[in-house]
Amino acid sequence: MSTFTIDTSTSRATPSPVPGKRMTAPSIRGRKVDGKTEQPIVMLTAYTMRMAQLLDPHCDMLLVGDSLGQVIYGLPSTIPVTMDMMCAHGAAVVRGSWHALVAVDMPFGSYEASPEQAFTCASRIMKETGCAAVKLEGGEAMAPTIEFLTHRSIPVIGHVGLTPQAVNILGGYGARGREEKEADKIIADARAVDQAGAFCIVVEGVLEAVADDITAKVGAPIIGIGASAQCDGQVLVTDDMLGMFERTPRFVKRYDDLAARIGEAARVYADEVRARSFPTPDQTYRPKS
Ligand code: KIV
Repeated sequence: MSTFTIDTSTSRATPSPVPGKRMTAPSIRGRKVDGKTEQPIVMLTAYTMRMAQLLDPHCDMLLVGDSLGQVIYGLPSTIPVTMDMMCAHGAAVVRGSWHALVAVDMPFGSYEASPEQAFTCASRIMKETGCAAVKLEGGEAMAPTIEFLTHRSIPVIGHVGLTPQAVNILGGYGARGREEKEADKIIADARAVDQAGAFCIVVEGVLEAVADDITAKVGAPIIGIGASAQCDGQVLVTDDMLGMFERTPRFVKRYDDLAARIGEAARVYADEVRARSFPTPDQTYRPKS
């Protein structure tokens, strides 16, 4: 179970929540008016309390993505990710945030069988994490499920184009929509998800022209990843944009090189431990005088 709030007396950080209301599904949906989004929507992934605290002031939405399978757990894909993982990390991210809407990915196998299965799993995610929305992958085939959930008070983010949970059907993570037929299908998927009631839609790994077309034609805000700067918003996997991995997809811009910086800090620490130059008097306890 989650408390949804952080104990500031025991936390190492000094979170200073700004009083105010969290972003909501209607406030995100309302950012796109008459097909235009004046202020693009900012979304990043977060899997831990501390990362949520750091990202929250800058983001409209935090996504507890099932990419945590690869990023946190070292799994080969998102397929093995479980409900327990999503609930534990979702609750941590809600505890570490106060401004952004927190959305949690529904893991593979938790929603595809039926709208009823999706409701059972999505309601568990919402109860155990305190998140305000779930995200699920799929287009026309998932539209009845999205409608079922939204009509039962569960805000849904759609996800079309390159859908990583379908890697075994797609045969890889390459960009989608190169053929006209496939591009038309992705546009039809986005339309179906929009009409089913998704309050925004992630469009991943598609040709720029396809993303632009969807953004122009679909009422709900389109959040691009490997898509187009003209989308209504953008999302990236935070660890990718921070440079935590040597290899990242082409569409990722690295805003830092944290892997190298962490490695260097660990090297200096190891040298100091081996030289017995750490800890210094500053880090040791002495009798009180
Ligand atoms: O799981 C995830 O991080 C995602 C984003 C890449 C959109 O779905």
